Amino acid sequence: MGWTTHECDVLVIGAGGAGLRAAVEASSRGASVTVLSKSLLGKAHTVMAEGGMAASMGHVDDRDNWKVHFSDTMRGGQYLNNWRMAQLHAQQAPDRVRELESWGALFDRTKDGRILQRNFGGHKYPRLAHVGDRTGLEMIRTLQDHGIHQGINFLMETTVVRLLKDGDRISGAFGYDRERGRFHLVHANAVIMATGGIGRAFRVTSNSWEYTGDGHALALRAGAELVDMEFVQFHPTGMVWPPSVRGILVTEGVRGEGGILLNSEGKRFMFDDIPDLYAGQTCETPEEGWQYVIGDKESRRPPELLTRDHVARKIVKEVKEGRGSPHGGVFLDIAWIRKNIKDSELHIKKKLPSMYHQFKELAGVDITKDPMEVGPTTHYVMGGIKVDAETQMSCVKGLFACGECGGGLHGANRLGGNSLSDLLVFGRLAGQHAAEWASDHGSTRLDEQQAADIEQFALAPIERQEGDNPYEIQHDLQDIMQDLVGIARVDGELEEAVEKIAGLRARAERAASPGNREYNPGWHTALDLWNLLDVSEAVARSAHGRRESRGAHSRIDFMEKDKDLGMVNTVTALDSDGSVATRHVPVTGRTDELHSIVEEMG
Ligand code: FUM
Repeated sequence: MGWTTHECDVLVIGAGGAGLRAAVEASSRGASVTVLSKSLLGKAHTVMAEGGMAASMGHVDDRDNWKVHFSDTMRGGQYLNNWRMAQLHAQQAPDRVRELESWGALFDRTKDGRILQRNFGGHKYPRLAHVGDRTGLEMIRTLQDHGIHQGINFLMETTVVRLLKDGDRISGAFGYDRERGRFHLVHANAVIMATGGIGRAFRVTSNSWEYTGDGHALALRAGAELVDMEFVQFHPTGMVWPPSVRGILVTEGVRGEGGILLNSEGKRFMFDDIPDLYAGQTCETPEEGWQYVIGDKESRRPPELLTRDHVARKIVKEVKEGRGSPHGGVFLDIAWIRKNIKDSELHIKKKLPSMYHQFKELAGVDITKDPMEVGPTTHYVMGGIKVDAETQMSCVKGLFACGECGGGLHGANRLGGNSLSDLLVFGRLAGQHAAEWASDHGSTRLDEQQAADIEQFALAPIERQEGDNPYEIQHDLQDIMQDLVGIARVDGELEEAVEKIAGLRARAERAASPGNREYNPGWHTALDLWNLLDVSEAVARSAHGRRESRGAHSRIDFMEKDKDLGMVNTVTALDSDGSVATRHVPVTGRTDELHSIVEEMG
């Protein structure tokens, strides 16, 4: 057997927006950097953040500033956010957008030539810097171009099986290339996890095949803690038809540009059950084309742009009560703007080019003329590796995390557009501090025996001539998570999920993918399963322990918020026997100063 060994100061695992931004930063500070990505460079869930990146630049409404952005983020996260991270994020996001522009990103412009910003759910003012509905793609393109010129070493289509340790320090990672199955060991002084989300643990998701919770699970197995894993975001609008495209994202930008949600009776149902926070604020602004909006006169927005958790639950309610669309969703209509906008067809194609093509090509629907059918799709996990706000280091020395697999910023619910700014702000901080750590703490010792043990573990499914089919195990897990740990949760079902996941672990031990290491996707699935099982158990256990409804976590047996639980985060860690366990800890980073900003912003 054997492996190829690579040496570097900083290893970045994941090549989406966060990983690339971290790599650029570490490399610009003189560290030798290797980026390892499960997929091809440029193929990342970052591109699914289509509608824009949130930053209080105030180009469209000059009342915007970091305090309003901070306060919106905290309200969206129901105050379970890491307060310091939310502060850093709101303060630094505008600079990160300008920096990206200086590296070549081409944003849409205002009439006077500044970066244009659009409305998005939960943001008080138009705040999302965007490039039509392809913002994430532009970000990846820019970072890739920038990184490629800094001499960063890329190992593409390579999956990590386990992290390596030198005592209590992280010392690298061991994995294999997906094409040939050859093993690679990357020996490093610091490792940054930037692997994205866990969407593939669910049946309906906007995430593609790569998102199996690898970073979360690898860090957990290496001794790190996860935080807030009960909070999984179900984006309200994914495609529902045809079946082959179910779950693909329909950007919130459609609603940001005026799209309205209708049920099968043609009713704009989002006006029912307006949350208390906004009750009594409904006003009419026919001159802008929104038939009705909510919010005060200065910051009005349509109810379709309430936070994602609320909109997703409203859609599920319409469907459950028999007012859904033919294929189990509701209707999202942008074509109606023709009543108010001259040449609306051109306008829609210009503002939402990807959505136009997506529906035309995948569903045969012309969105400039007809409504789309949409329903919730698993999009994002707020929970992630617990890190220090200033440095992004976890409790394991030399192990950093940023982007979706890092936890803390978003609390109980992420606002749309905050993910792109998150990965720029915290990608940069992770890169900076990993580079500093690597240079300040000297080389780690490489333990070849650890690598040999991981190699043996990785080869087991191939050597097993008979056993369980890994795909079947993954499908069964997706059913469990979708049906028992989905949008509406209840005690008994969460317990059932935990029990069933234990059963799947036993089957995963027997998973077989006989054949050889070359082009063997069954083998890859057999190994991904371990990560999926760990993160799924973390989600189910965390959800079971939070006996209230808050943000994206909705318990039909505990519909109200619990005051005490509003002050704690759920932390997941491994017990001494290797089993997944959860506990509650006080919310991090809350200070009187930040609290008074929230109060001041109302
Ligand atoms: O709807 C969207 O464009 C997604 C954005 C996000 O998740 O931030």
